[in-house]
Amino acid sequence: MCGIVGYAGRERAAEELFEGLKKLEYRGYDSAGISTCDRGEIFTAKRGGRVEELLPYLKALSGTVGIGHTRWATHGEANDVNAHPHACGKFSVVHNGIIENYAELRAELAASGHQFISQTDSEVVAHLLDFYYDGDLADAVRLACARLKGCWALAVLCADFDGFAVTRRSSSAILGEGDGYFAASDIYALCGRAHSYCVMEDGDIAIVTPRGITIYDCNLIPVKRAFEQLNEEGEEVGTGDCPHYMLKEIRQNARTIRATCNKFSYIPNLPALKKRLEDSDKIVLVGCGTAYNAALAAVRLLGGAYDCPVSAHIASEARYDPPRVTEKSVCIAVSQSGETADTLRAAEIAREAGAYLIAVTNVGYSAITRIADKVLPVCAGAEVCVAATKSYIGQLACFHLMASLNNIGVRMSELLKVAGGVEDIASGGAYARVIAKLCVQSRAVFFLGRGVDVDVAVEGSLKLKEVSYIFSDGYPAGELKHGTLALVDETVLSVVLICDEALAEKSKNAVEQILSRRGKVAIVTTLPHVYEEFKGRVNASWLLPPAPAHLSHFLSSTALQLIAYRAAVLAGRDPDKPRNLAKSVTVE
Ligand code: M6R
Repeated sequence: MCGIVGYAGRERAAEELFEGLKKLEYRGYDSAGISTCDRGEIFTAKRGGRVEELLPYLKALSGTVGIGHTRWATHGEANDVNAHPHACGKFSVVHNGIIENYAELRAELAASGHQFISQTDSEVVAHLLDFYYDGDLADAVRLACARLKGCWALAVLCADFDGFAVTRRSSSAILGEGDGYFAASDIYALCGRAHSYCVMEDGDIAIVTPRGITIYDCNLIPVKRAFEQLNEEGEEVGTGDCPHYMLKEIRQNARTIRATCNKFSYIPNLPALKKRLEDSDKIVLVGCGTAYNAALAAVRLLGGAYDCPVSAHIASEARYDPPRVTEKSVCIAVSQSGETADTLRAAEIAREAGAYLIAVTNVGYSAITRIADKVLPVCAGAEVCVAATKSYIGQLACFHLMASLNNIGVRMSELLKVAGGVEDIASGGAYARVIAKLCVQSRAVFFLGRGVDVDVAVEGSLKLKEVSYIFSDGYPAGELKHGTLALVDETVLSVVLICDEALAEKSKNAVEQILSRRGKVAIVTTLPHVYEEFKGRVNASWLLPPAPAHLSHFLSSTALQLIAYRAAVLAGRDPDKPRNLAKSVTVE
């Protein structure tokens, strides 16, 4: 949830770290801080608020080694004191994760004279390091970590040492080599600065200096870890000619469909995957948020293709009430980041019970890929906006391909065709603006549809509420008269999706029911006759390019993403960094 960075090289560390933090800000943006070390002295600046708040203080941070942090608060409110780095004695520490036993450690250390100034769980790490330090940084890290419970990625600066230490357990930490040596929570922070990267293993302790990186295991035995070349992600940096990442990324939806299809053709052993799915006694999908909403679509797609029960589970529920699986079952973990704590745990539980684990993820080096039996890549490229857009589209593409392993060429050409329609929608925007304006003027916005449109409605609602803060819900159109209709009046907007000819008449009934209660209606449809019928009778209608029902979610989801984006902008929100949210939810 937080982002950590480290730098050791020949340049001033403060500016290097600031640049890294700017790129990681999507992981958390409540507060930020940097520590540098220069000739035995540690300099620190930390502030509540965004990374920019640090800018005036950079000059005062001298030295060519340092660590930095951007925070999403879990323990203690977001303010200057709780911002990282946390210090004790010769140490300055940044932490991503949660120290579960911090209260007992704090009490123990307080009893031996340590004074705590923040309300964070992380401060205890700095005190533990000070407690165990006997002139050897790596050993102090080893001893301190042996006392911790929970999950962490830590970067540690010590006034005695020209460099810093990094270690991790269950939270990601990447090392980079380029013009200097780097550490970061994810690869994105290294783009443009490192030419190669290495994903640290759980328990590794890396010592990073201006001269190089040495990696040890948790017993301080030196280990070799492979560094890989850092390439394509570099092009993703920046919003390009769009004002926000969210718009840029929606405009990459079509590219994501194409890239996911292309990569899928090169996945080894597709016949074995097909057999595994055909022979399975059940397929269970786990995910959170948008990834769960993609899993809902997968239930329809895979359910239609394989002769076994297919179900989707919210991972935070599934980890405590796991779906029953056997050695003949397949569990599919869906996660853009591949780091979501609940999804990882739910997937682990299914695997421990014998299920074959498939990871559908956008991040090839993420934690989920290390526990999965098979990885099916979503090729969205780096997704920076907190709201998932192109990764959802990529997940849908991946499920289509999984559902058509018998005849993959046909489905691929369908997907490539629909990508053209997606491109047209994403590059336009007039209809999105009209519907977004209606959203902003409404007390609540409901999204409804039938069949494939239900999943799109649920995801469209999540998108709108998270970036615009407008109250919203998404549900099956048939449910309208079973409750939600009580809320409908002239202050409420219903966005009705009608993209399946076979269900269109039924969805039209819902529109009539809303209109007769003076509710506002916007129609989003791929069906020209529906558009013609309602045009002029409803507050807005958007005719999308034609598509068969089973592919229409690519078009309608793109349209709803654009509506959410426009509504956020109209409402004066920052669509890339919605309040209280972070991109990668690595805590429970
Ligand atoms: O990285 P993941 O796909 O596992 O993340 C899951 C959710 O946290 C994520 O989809 C979240 O709901 C997004 N903010 C939705 O836009």
